[in-house]
This record gives sequence, C-alpha cells and structure tokens, in this order.
Amino acid sequence: MTNPWRKEFPVLQRRVHGVPLAYLDNAASTQKPQCVIDAVTRCLREDYSNIHRGVHYLSQQLSAQYDRVREQVAAFVNAARVEEIVFTKGTTEALNLLASSLGQLLLKPGDKIVVSAMEHHANIVPWQMACQRFGAELVVLPMNTGGELPDGIEAFLDGLDNVKIFSVAHVSNVLGTINNLARLLPAAKARGIVTIVDGAQAVAHLPVDVQALGCDFYVFSGHKIYAPTAIGVLYGRYQWLEAMPPYQGGGDMILSVSFEKTEYAPPPLKFEAGTPPIVEVIGLGAALDWVREAGLGNLAAHEEKLRLHAEAALRALPGMTIYGNAAHKAAVISFTLEGIHPHDAGTIMDSHGVAVRVGQHCAEPVMRFFGIPATIRASFAAYNDEQDVERLIASVKATQELFA
Ligand code: ALA
Repeated sequence: MTNPWRKEFPVLQRRVHGVPLAYLDNAASTQKPQCVIDAVTRCLREDYSNIHRGVHYLSQQLSAQYDRVREQVAAFVNAARVEEIVFTKGTTEALNLLASSLGQLLLKPGDKIVVSAMEHHANIVPWQMACQRFGAELVVLPMNTGGELPDGIEAFLDGLDNVKIFSVAHVSNVLGTINNLARLLPAAKARGIVTIVDGAQAVAHLPVDVQALGCDFYVFSGHKIYAPTAIGVLYGRYQWLEAMPPYQGGGDMILSVSFEKTEYAPPPLKFEAGTPPIVEVIGLGAALDWVREAGLGNLAAHEEKLRLHAEAALRALPGMTIYGNAAHKAAVISFTLEGIHPHDAGTIMDSHGVAVRVGQHCAEPVMRFFGIPATIRASFAAYNDEQDVERLIASVKATQELFA
C-alpha cells in the first residue's frame, strides 16, 4: 500500500550521495509537511508583526492566530484550561523552567527528586542543577535489562522519604519503551509527589490526555511532531502555574512595573517573558492540524507495522543486538553490530542514503547501563514506508559485508 502521507513532505523527494533519502532519524527531529512550510512562509511573507503589542491590523490579526494555537494545543493534550499551556523553546527549556521554578517553590535541603534510569539528559541535568541549588538529592528509579521500569514503584517510593518530584519519560528516546504511566503516576500522586512527564518522544506517536494521565506537568517539543524547531510546550495544572514563581523576567509577563515593585501577569504569560517564537507557534498550529487530520491512531498503527517488520528483519541478522525489548514500544530501534563501531556503521549506512542516528543519544547513563559506547538508532515517522525498512536492512547488511 502506498503511504498516503509521504508525498506531503518535500524533503523526502531529495537525493543524498546520489541516492534517494531514507530518513530514519525521526526521534532526533521530524521532517515538515508542505502545510507547515506554507503556514510559516505565509506568516513571514504576509502576516508578520509582533503580537500582543499593537493596535494595528497586522498585530491584531497575528495575535489572534497565535492565541488560537494555544487553544489547539490545549485541545490536543486535553488540558482543562487553555491557560495551562505555556510556550517554551522546547522540552529542554520546559524542564529547566520546572527545575528552577518548581524547585524554588517546593525543594528544601534533604528533599528528593526521582527520575528513571532511562532518562534523556534533559530530564537529568536540570534536576542535578536544582539539587545543587536547593540542597535536594536525585534518586534513580532503576530499569531492567529489557528496558522497562519494573513493577514495584510503590515499594521503591516507600523506601524513600521526602520525595517531592517524580519526573519520567513517556517514551524512551533510546529504547522506545512506552512507560506504564497509568501505574507509575498514581503511585507517585498517592504519596503526594508532584508528577512531570517528558513527552518529547511520545506526542507524535501516541494520543496524550493529560487529564486522564493525571500528571501535574507534561512537556514536549514541536520539532518532533512535524513543527519547526524552537517551539515547545509546557502543560501545567493551573494551581501549580499560579503558585510557581516566574522563570525569566521581561516584557509581556507583567501586569505592572515600577522601580519599586513588579506585579506579574497570570499564567501562562507569567512564564513567557519577551517576544515569543511567533512564527514557530504558527508552524506548530499547522503541524497539529496536520496530525489531527491524519489521525494519531492511524499514524501509530502504521509506525508499529514498520517497527515490527524492521525489528524482525534486524533480529535475524548475525551479530545483532537490539537494546530495548519492552512489551510496549514506540517506533524506535536501537542496536549494535558485533565488531563494528556504531559511528562506522552510521557512516556507511549514510552512504546508502539511510539516515540514522548513532551515538549516546543524549542518554549516557543508558549506554553505561548496557556497557556500550553507543548505538545505531532507527526511528520511524508517519511518512516512512516499507521501502525505507528494506533500505535500512540492506544498508546494515552492506555494512556487515564491508567489515566481514
Ligand atoms: N532528543 C533527540 C534524540 O533523541 C535529539 O535524538
């Protein structure tokens, strides 16, 4: 069956090294459909102005468009209120905002922050910085060799005192594990712990309903869901956003300023100092429209088929080790080839037009857990097709032949 979405992504028509591109680096960043490119271009060519600052036509029109995207995002994650959506630069900035602002609100010496063993550096380093700043301690929820967080988080949490924050990936960017949030989050909540979900690798692949999950915060990046870079989302329960101090100060986040005292704007503006990423927000709106029309369920089912095919074919190759064998996985496959450094493999695969990521994937502790320096990672998106899977397999075989 031909992929109905592929033709909408112009970059996939291009050739690299004289061969057609098989783009399998979607966990790093996704390509953009024509409608996103058009929305961004139209914004820059016809509609551009600063927003929330002008009585003139362009500013009013673009402010309304921008505000509509916030409503779209709220609907996309099923937030209870549109004011619960804060625009950030990306997942990393959202997590830094939380570590700084929520940290200031909640943490005192001796308190604990729990993260899982499979986190991306963006969900480790900001918390380490918060620990240094507020005298707290970082504790790691272990995973098993299949790349799953084992049952028994209740006992783990009960073995600790003063846990204030639990921050966990929805989907692992290396292992593809879809964490069982329906089990993890209630256990933390029942113990009065604030819950944060890093949804960077989830939003393009699974429906997200923040009210059903019951999380306090959920963060993601636009560029992983067909939108431009430099736009991300922090969903936060309104009561938390209201209680948290601002992360940055400046224009747009205030109600009044004098040299003696500043009164802050209510959320979300309290967390959006300065001119926001206007064009990127417009691009995010177009991307979310695209995903809604395609249907996240259809995209997920398509990607799952590709992953299962690719995983079965890769597993059949000699010298192959796949990392991450969770029962529930998103479309990410990390692997190594016996006797071949991942960087060499990635370079040879690239010469065949197959774009994968090689390295530590900003998750050095995961590499250390498996005792490896790096992996080769293939990750799928809506526009990938069976031909991409065939080309992945062929490029791995060609790599092995070269090293035989
Ligand atoms: N976080 C991105 C990845 O996993 C960059 O590749």
